[in-house]
Amino acid sequence: MKQDMIVILDLGSHENTVLARAIRALGVYSEIYPHDITAAELKALPNVKGVIINGGPSHVIDGVSIDVLPEIYEIGFPVMAAGHDKALCEVKLPQFTNDVEAIKSAVESFVFDTCQAETNWNMTNFVNDQIELIRRQVGGKKVLLALSGGVDSSVVAALLLKAIGDNLVCVHVNHGLMRKGESEAVIEMFKNRLKANLVYVDATDRFLNKLTGVEDPEEKRKIIGSEFIRVFEEEARKFDDIDFLGQGTIYPDIVESGTKTAKMVKSHHNVGGLPEDLQFELVEPLRQLFKDEVRACGLELDLPYEMVYRQPFPGPGLGVRCLGIISRDRLEAVRESDAILCEEFELAGLDKKVWQYFTVVPDFKSVGVRDNARSFEWPVIIRAVNTVDAMTATIETIDWPILMKITDRILKEVKNVNRVCYDLSPKPNATIEWE
Ligand code: XMP
Repeated sequence: MKQDMIVILDLGSHENTVLARAIRALGVYSEIYPHDITAAELKALPNVKGVIINGGPSHVIDGVSIDVLPEIYEIGFPVMAAGHDKALCEVKLPQFTNDVEAIKSAVESFVFDTCQAETNWNMTNFVNDQIELIRRQVGGKKVLLALSGGVDSSVVAALLLKAIGDNLVCVHVNHGLMRKGESEAVIEMFKNRLKANLVYVDATDRFLNKLTGVEDPEEKRKIIGSEFIRVFEEEARKFDDIDFLGQGTIYPDIVESGTKTAKMVKSHHNVGGLPEDLQFELVEPLRQLFKDEVRACGLELDLPYEMVYRQPFPGPGLGVRCLGIISRDRLEAVRESDAILCEEFELAGLDKKVWQYFTVVPDFKSVGVRDNARSFEWPVIIRAVNTVDAMTATIETIDWPILMKITDRILKEVKNVNRVCYDLSPKPNATIEWE
């Protein structure tokens, strides 16, 4: 890394990540480290221009007072305490905020006047640095990558491709629970356009057979997750000359997996769990990036806007939107209705406004009329939500004419469906997904 860096020492503050994002938004690279880092460890980090002790001196968590090592103050870099208590800190940060702009102005003078940091954090420099680092790590060896087509794996694939070309082997596993045209789009982009070495595995039958008769959502998730690893492992074993595994781990995965002071938020869910005899060294070129930076990196690598700004899609895919026991015909109803919703949202410009939108098909039928005869068919439920962190969510207010057009199309075009409903529930009490 050639970029100047401001180090944030984590004293358990809620604002560590927003502080790091704010400093990066100023054009200066920033990383979060544990509060008990030693002066020697800190000095070994590249291009440190200054240190922010975030949480203030003698921060108290659960009745225990924690502080950085005294030697940190004598390290020779500018050191600043930031926190909520004006009496104890040189800079007072707004509390419990996601407001990058407010924090930017609070730390700007420290970053530029005191630390004299240069604004050399940008995606062009990042991509160039990473290409060099990847080549140095991997040499002439091969890297295997599970390419789902999600934002993170697509950006990693594009970056690795640029760094090592044919030595990247991408495996795209279609578990049969993809959205309409999704696997085809991955093949078109990476195999046909970018000429990546891409292995496509259609494992639809295998996944659906495993899911036969399974009703419980968590059980479905477990089956899909473990089957995914099994399929990927089988593909990996077909190559005997692969030493590295590419992963789309991003900075929040690392920060949220638990620092010494922050509580465990969630364990990150990349391709872990491979058998021990399959030993790969990890290549994780996005591990320093926040989600918005991952997207910017994708654009820097010329990936299309729709690909890097696509809405989140859960790992178990449509499997948790085809409620209860999955059947092929009902899965088709989920897939077709979702495609119609996506098309109409794009036409109305809602795809750029709404955080996540999809359809759900429950496992019950209702009475209707079709061709002058009684019908007994499924309902389709539309869900469209906005959120910042997926912990809470509000529903989108959609104009009636748009909803009615979508309803009309679903009723005409999707087989075995006779009703369309709109889900008005926020999270909480509902969750975003239905399962
Ligand atoms: P919930 O339904 O918990 O969803 O409000 C919050 C966000 O997480 C996504 N989600 C998942 N993502 N594997 C994933 O990778 C899963 O099993 C899973 N379940 C929910 C959901 O789509 C929403 O964005």
